[in-house]
Amino acid sequence: MSRDVEDHRIHNNSQNLPFGEVVERHLSRRQILQGGLGLAALSMMGGFGLGGSNGAWAQNKTPLALAFESIKGSHTDAVVVPPGYRAQVLIPWGTPLNARASAWQKDLAMTPEQQANSVGMHHDGMHAFPLDAESGSRRFLLALNNEYIDQDALWAPQGGPTQPDGVRPADEVRTEINAHGVTIVEIRRQDDGGWTHVVDSPYNRRITTATPIMLAGPVAGSDYVRTRYSTDGTRTRGTNNNCANGYTPWGTYLTCEENWPEVFVNTGERFSDDARLGLPTDRGRYGWETAAGDGEQEDEFSRFDVTPRVGEASEDYRNEARTFGYVVEIDPYTQAMAVKRTALGRFRHEGCWPGPVRAGEPLTFYTGHDSRNEYIYKFVSAAKWDPADAPRPGNEADRLAIGGKYLDEGTLYAARFDEDGRGEWLPLTPDAKTPSGQTLAAALGLAADDTAGIIIHTCDAADLMGATPMDRPEWSSVDPVSGEVYFTLTNNSKRTAADTEASFTNDGTAIDAGGVGYATAPANVANPRANNENGHIIRWREQPDNRFAWEIFVFGSDAGAGDNRSGLTEDNQFASPDGLWYDARGEGQGILWFQTDNSDNAVAEYTNDQLLAVVPGALGQDASGAGSVIDAANQSHLKRFAVGPNGCEVTGIFATPDRTALFINIQHPGNWPADGDALGQDATRATNGQVRPRAATVAIWKEDGGQVGL
Ligand code: FEO
Ligand code: CA
Ligand code: CA
Repeated sequence: MSRDVEDHRIHNNSQNLPFGEVVERHLSRRQILQGGLGLAALSMMGGFGLGGSNGAWAQNKTPLALAFESIKGSHTDAVVVPPGYRAQVLIPWGTPLNARASAWQKDLAMTPEQQANSVGMHHDGMHAFPLDAESGSRRFLLALNNEYIDQDALWAPQGGPTQPDGVRPADEVRTEINAHGVTIVEIRRQDDGGWTHVVDSPYNRRITTATPIMLAGPVAGSDYVRTRYSTDGTRTRGTNNNCANGYTPWGTYLTCEENWPEVFVNTGERFSDDARLGLPTDRGRYGWETAAGDGEQEDEFSRFDVTPRVGEASEDYRNEARTFGYVVEIDPYTQAMAVKRTALGRFRHEGCWPGPVRAGEPLTFYTGHDSRNEYIYKFVSAAKWDPADAPRPGNEADRLAIGGKYLDEGTLYAARFDEDGRGEWLPLTPDAKTPSGQTLAAALGLAADDTAGIIIHTCDAADLMGATPMDRPEWSSVDPVSGEVYFTLTNNSKRTAADTEASFTNDGTAIDAGGVGYATAPANVANPRANNENGHIIRWREQPDNRFAWEIFVFGSDAGAGDNRSGLTEDNQFASPDGLWYDARGEGQGILWFQTDNSDNAVAEYTNDQLLAVVPGALGQDASGAGSVIDAANQSHLKRFAVGPNGCEVTGIFATPDRTALFINIQHPGNWPADGDALGQDATRATNGQVRPRAATVAIWKEDGGQVGL
């Protein structure tokens, strides 16, 4: 989501000081290593118990080499890729999925029915699911998040959205609701190397902000989520503001609810979690609640106004927002009802990425809360991985039942990053002890066994356990061999100097426990730059006993900045890292791709948002023998691979199993793709004149048919 548009108001009002009031503002990685057991030192000592380290393999293997020259930054209405590559627009917003939708045309008047049967708007996280074991590189299901909407583009033929007498027309609201959510669409490769979607594939499907969805895990069936729609608290309608994503080892898609609070409104007393998460108090983002009234069906619009109305929670929608803020599991291969997996926490989820998968061990999933001074989390399943649950030809297993086995019971942790380069996962369980010695349940004012309450108040629980406030956690990805976890921290305008006091906001309207958080937080070792406008990427390795060792992999910067800590040049300067994928290429090696969602700084003056690549294993080793981070001596390995069109964010990423095609998303372009009527077209063609902009997936492949990047 564009930094211009996104509402990242400070919702963290914690009364806790950020971990370690005493932090060193400019602690370098090597100082960390010298001062304690940092990632590299522990790696050398074999302290991770993971088998293999960058140091070990780097001594024995020839590192992969990126076989393209870094491209220049650009400001055009076109996608730019290196010479020898092709880039094609695929499934732009409005692409019909079946015969119930009319053909796209540039002046198409969108309707609820048309939008419900077409690709949604503002593509973000995505993942591919093979349609059989042999053809995953030529035929697959694409699961795609449609994060939010551009009302001007959606309603371009009528000159924009309307609101006569302050009331949004019902069909405008239904259309906007149907433009959000998730798209499942079959994709095939053509003989010329290009790509197309399959109209009327039986797999094609939309899940929108109106689609019935199950609740599962600790919150399901609790008093926290009883509504007039679901008096027993087991269902809700819709998933919203689906930002990044994840996937499971059993073949399902995870879609994550990020900026969902904005579509609700509460004009009365707010729960503390409503306040903490930033529910509007005057009007929902698009005014959907204004369409409530005689013409609505089953409270389809009333539910967005969560102001308490009547006696019982099961008679109104005061709890509707408590059915949002989750990781949602979808079986892309069936029409089964999606499931909100509440055990993975409730906040503004960016995404949810699996850790290494090992038989007989619990599964791990990493997830972050993208708001300023919020936290990084990890979920560890109670069930241990059984390889029989992996997808395989002929396996007709109920994938969502398998999902329940691994995702409904487990432990959610929040991360505390310590000054010695280590860190600890803090359990968010009712009986966990806070630093003040209380149980977490008691500290939150909850009953001793109220796991559902902990989940509803996830970020307050993380505050109370002493988690480290971060610079807006976005995407994560794990090197499956080394176990190294990479995490983007995009930027933070509310990060103050290390020697300043934290400040807190609390508007005093909360009606129950909690309501804590940071308005501003001083710099700490894991987020060392005040007013961090360029962001950074952190990485860590797990250790026994809920410990980990971490380091900062690269700092965003413009090449000319005085605080250019990773030595970036014009060839790779970047800011606001967001999308990220560790692309394993075999033998313990891989490419780390990352994407940007940047604006209003020196890097933005140089280039539009971009996709960069680096082979971490090619960076060499530091004195300890572990893999290096990016610095002035090795930074030429970090290369710019693609640049998006004006106004866009580059996000979403995966490749075919054979790595002959890479897919990214162009979200909120200003004036692209060039041909207003075409669906598939050359993504690198610059727009001539003005078009109705459409977010789209872009397929990138090498003209010689080789592996992308190599
Ligand atoms: Fe939707 Fe945090 O990006
Ligand atoms: Ca993002
Ligand atoms: Ca972002």
